[in-house]
Amino acid sequence: MAARREHFGGRSAAILALAGSAIGLGNIWRFPYMVGQTGGAAFIIIYLASCLLLSLPIFLAEAIIGHRTHAGTFGAMERLAPGMKWKWLGLLTVLSPLVILSYYSVVGGWSIGYLWQSLTAGFHLDEIGAVSSAFGRFVAEPWVPLLFHTLFLGGCAWIVSAGVKSGIERFNKITMPLLFLLIVMIMVYSLTLPGARAGVEYLLKPDFSKITPSAVAAAMGQSFFSLSLGVGTILTYASYIRRDENILVTGLGTVGFDLLFALIAGFAIMPAVFAAGIEPGAGPGLIFETLPYIFAKMGASAPWLSGLVAVLFFVTIVFAAFTSAISMYEVGVAYLVEQRGLSRHKATVLIFLGCWILGALCSLSFGPLSGTHIFGLTIFNFCDRLTSNFLMTFGGLLFVIFVGWKMDKTAVRDEFTCGGTARFNTAVFGAFWFLLRYLAPLAILIIFITNFLA
Ligand code: TRP
Repeated sequence: MAARREHFGGRSAAILALAGSAIGLGNIWRFPYMVGQTGGAAFIIIYLASCLLLSLPIFLAEAIIGHRTHAGTFGAMERLAPGMKWKWLGLLTVLSPLVILSYYSVVGGWSIGYLWQSLTAGFHLDEIGAVSSAFGRFVAEPWVPLLFHTLFLGGCAWIVSAGVKSGIERFNKITMPLLFLLIVMIMVYSLTLPGARAGVEYLLKPDFSKITPSAVAAAMGQSFFSLSLGVGTILTYASYIRRDENILVTGLGTVGFDLLFALIAGFAIMPAVFAAGIEPGAGPGLIFETLPYIFAKMGASAPWLSGLVAVLFFVTIVFAAFTSAISMYEVGVAYLVEQRGLSRHKATVLIFLGCWILGALCSLSFGPLSGTHIFGLTIFNFCDRLTSNFLMTFGGLLFVIFVGWKMDKTAVRDEFTCGGTARFNTAVFGAFWFLLRYLAPLAILIIFITNFLA
């Protein structure tokens, strides 16, 4: 076991890193299309509630395990519950982020590809034709997406191999403020488009008839995904937070930034969608199909400006994806270094190889391997479904049960209240304990069952 572990420099570095993990494709790609599909403002209200009442307690549970033990997922479980089956949870949560990373890297690669296109040729209506066909052609072609997948994963490897402080922390410190700046700029542009008003109203006027059980489950699942819960990423990053840091403040900061970013992304995308006269419920193709179409359409009247916005937009996506992907990468690296005694460099290379192969299979499943199915799903969809619907929720459930029912309550209280010194934390501990023990397991079970039936 490594004798001296690295740490994040301070509170802001820790929050930036955690927010970097949380803010990603989930905020820019998944959140806006889910809002679109599930009915605008009503969805946002349920989403806010599930972030605070469900995801924050789960986030804190994971963070408490990591911060308490100062070890990666596997080591943490071993230390808190020695010789027990809980260490399998540790192992599961080493593997699931690596599966996510494999297909996430493919989408990250597409984003690099689109950035490349926006820098070189741009988007033109005559080439795009139907909204979706250009994207379909792009992902079905075997070599180019593989090349971009390699670039994306290689970029992650490069950052992670430099270490927690001079790699991950430094990258997040530079990138995160930039991401906020960029998304705000895009939002301002989008809000000034003629016809943007309808998009704003859509995001602000709730239609409560849209609050159905499945919308609630979708909102809870989205807040889970967006905060990177259930796969040990938060645990691992929290293990790099200094001993005396206030976990609740870190958690509130992360959730707050993640929410804020998702909302700004919503206000950056929906007004543009309405301005272009497109159905808001376009689904997962929103970013790679609908938006290039919008850029092309606007380009007809103001080519220079729309070209610039397209570049800024894809830069934002690429870097948001990077900050999330390196957090998944780090979970595997921490395991190999701390439990298997590998050097950081070797661990990085090994994970690159494993994820590259699985990611390549995911990438090819849009083209040459499209006929290969696992449980009736293509390889990409299988990895996505397996992780976001099952492994993340299952891991999250086990984490809250572990902290709420298995871990020593005094230890949990001690972590949560900074050894009793934080007065606000002490005052809200009872509420946290209730949410963690009862509401969170129940809610996760509901998401789990809903996903199972879907
Ligand atoms: N939260 C990330 C996003 O919003 C995606 C994500 C899901 C993730 N699960 C994760 C990131 C696990 C890191 C670890 O895009």
